[in-house]
Amino acid sequence: MFEILKNKEVGPDIFYLVLKCDELSEQPKPGQFFNVKISRKLSTDPLLRRPFSVFDFDEDQNILELVYRKVGRGTEILSKYKAGEKLDVIGPLGNPFSTEKRSGLIHLVGGGMGIVPLHYLARTLEKGEKKVFLGAENSDELEFFTKRFKKMNVEIHRAAMTEKMEIKGSVLVLWMNYLDQEKPLFVYTCGPEKMLSAVEKECLKSSIQGQLSIERRMGCGIGVCLSCSCETTEGNKRSCVDGPVFTLGEVVLNA
Ligand SMILES: Cc1cc2nc3c(=O)[nH]c(=O)nc-3n(C[C@H](O)[C@H](O)[C@H](O)COP(=O)(O)OP(=O)(O)OC[C@H]3O[C@@H](n4cnc5c(N)ncnc54)[C@H](O)[C@@H]3O)c2cc1C
Ligand code: FES
Repeated sequence: MFEILKNKEVGPDIFYLVLKCDELSEQPKPGQFFNVKISRKLSTDPLLRRPFSVFDFDEDQNILELVYRKVGRGTEILSKYKAGEKLDVIGPLGNPFSTEKRSGLIHLVGGGMGIVPLHYLARTLEKGEKKVFLGAENSDELEFFTKRFKKMNVEIHRAAMTEKMEIKGSVLVLWMNYLDQEKPLFVYTCGPEKMLSAVEKECLKSSIQGQLSIERRMGCGIGVCLSCSCETTEGNKRSCVDGPVFTLGEVVLNA
């Protein structure tokens, strides 16, 4: 059980959850996730744990940061937890992003809550030239993320669907404007599968390597129930243990 240090709204229905995690079996890696038991003592509502990506981790103080959007029953209940209460959390789980040193430009493309895992990734890839492309419905949804990305050595580009930031429109269009002018060495992406599919298509067309993280619905989170099964070029895989991070071109996406 980990103590909640903070659970506060930082954007429209977007919550920032900070946990003191003194007994983790290992330090989380970027792209991994934690499976959170949201139901309170003596309750089974909701029955299943909910997965959330690592937004950041402070290895000196064992502080885990998650960011989640309130979308349904589980996240509604989660949003009511207060600092000082405890949460039953399992993790870190899943296959992380590769963070090997690369000498060349890196692009990180995130849409909606797909931005979350890219933050810890960008911080881990601290050295080297990086551009991050962030997209959401409006600027309020990007405010918290922007503040945090500004604290690190990364060039930030933002798009919103309903108002003009760098452009008014999707992060995909914004990113493709840059892709017309430069060829990154590696691309990391997370967000809606339609966006992932389009990013993947552009990268494969230009022989750019990369990885994506998918957010399929999960049951157990530890490879047992098969509810997160996804089709890949090597047959069906479980996105909780074989993913959520996959190489571009590996997974059949729901585009
Ligand atoms: C590996 C992984 C990492 C994730 N990381 C984050 C994160 O960092 N921040 C965050 O906000 N969310 C993240 N998610 C999604 C998050 O787990 C779901 O939003 C959450 O489980 C919804 O629970 P709920 O009970 O509130 O919603 P429910 O009542 O179960 O569902 C409400 C609505 O949300 C949709 N939904 C539920 N789960 C998912 C899902 N996995 N993918 C897409 N749509 C879903 C349902 O179809 C439904 O329309 C992640 C999911 C995965 C698989
Ligand atoms: S969630 Fe159960 S096998 Fe992946």
